[in-house]
Amino acid sequence: MNHDDLNLWSGQKSGRLVADLADVSKRYGYKLILRNFSMRLVRGDRLALVGPNGVGKTTLLRILTGAETPDSGTVKLGTGLDMAVFDQNRSALDPELSLWESLTGSAEMRVSGRADQVMVRGQPRHVVGYLKEFLFSEAQARAPVKSLSGGERARLLLARLMAQPSNLLVLDEPTNDLDIETLDLLQELISDYDGTVIVVSHDRDFLDRVATVTVAMEGGGQAVIYAGGWSDYQAQRRENRAGERATDKPKPAKSAPKQAEKAPDGLTFTEAHRLKELPGVIARLEAEIAKLTELLSDPDLFTREPVKFRKATDALVERQAALAQAEEDWLTLEDKASAAP
Ligand SMILES: Nc1ncnc2c1ncn2[C@@H]1O[C@H](COP(=O)(O)OP(=O)(O)OP(=O)(O)O)[C@@H](O)[C@H]1O
Ligand SMILES: [Mg+2]
Repeated sequence: MNHDDLNLWSGQKSGRLVADLADVSKRYGYKLILRNFSMRLVRGDRLALVGPNGVGKTTLLRILTGAETPDSGTVKLGTGLDMAVFDQNRSALDPELSLWESLTGSAEMRVSGRADQVMVRGQPRHVVGYLKEFLFSEAQARAPVKSLSGGERARLLLARLMAQPSNLLVLDEPTNDLDIETLDLLQELISDYDGTVIVVSHDRDFLDRVATVTVAMEGGGQAVIYAGGWSDYQAQRRENRAGERATDKPKPAKSAPKQAEKAPDGLTFTEAHRLKELPGVIARLEAEIAKLTELLSDPDLFTREPVKFRKATDALVERQAALAQAEEDWLTLEDKASAAP
């Protein structure tokens, strides 16, 4: 890890682990949403959630991001997560404001003293230029939000969302009533995005183009993990049906090649010991990082105590590197342990 990774002011990288769900179950009244569902999301994944209306996609998305708690099982969220959320209700826009005001009026995007500029991931940009990137014309900039079509509103929300520094992009049905051009734009935004993406969509072609892993919610608490997008899901499902009847045990998203899976080698004693102590190590590092971050959030520290500031900065960089390594080791060892018979 180099010093560039220590950027407290704009998009900071999250830890390698983004979310780890173990044996998660959730129901609303009589409706079973998830039964003993386990999955791990790591930095850089593009996760698609698919399934019929009302099956529980939004609920799973909320569990994955810590907005909802399961009835049983555990959810571990990664460190340093900075979320940008596109919610299904698109409720965040004020219909009376102009497009221009919708951007410059938001507290996070305002550039003080410059009514024609907006802050885009820490960089000031001209508001019309930025709107054009999202396929709006100069004339539209002054039009009210209420004059926009559903697809155009979604596009404006995306413009706001992508301006925010973030490392976890959460998109709940962003593709509903988007035109082809906006779908292409969204696909590009997602592939250029330097972080993790969770997306709910019914657009199969779109999912084929963006997803690296798919969770198919099939009703009755059943959710199955497939590598790849929609077509991969269909193909793998056919395969499963042809063979044994698919069980509700989710498969590892990135399963090792068949041979490695069957390899009889478990963990060595040293590795087993390391795996056992890693959760403690990770918790300690996380606590230290939280403390240092808090210390460094004091804007006067640098002028008041430059030596302390420097020491804290160095310590933070060092702890973040150690944490990344510990998480990496934990993931590797967990994979190895679960691949063993
Ligand atoms: N807070 C809640 N309290 C009670 N029931 C809920 C709650 N949230 C969701 N539900 C119910 O759980 C089920 C799953 O809802 P969820 O919104 O997760 O589904 P979804 O797959 O996202 O649906 P859609 O495709 O319509 O967006 C629905 O029957 C919904 O009514
Ligand atoms: Mg939903």
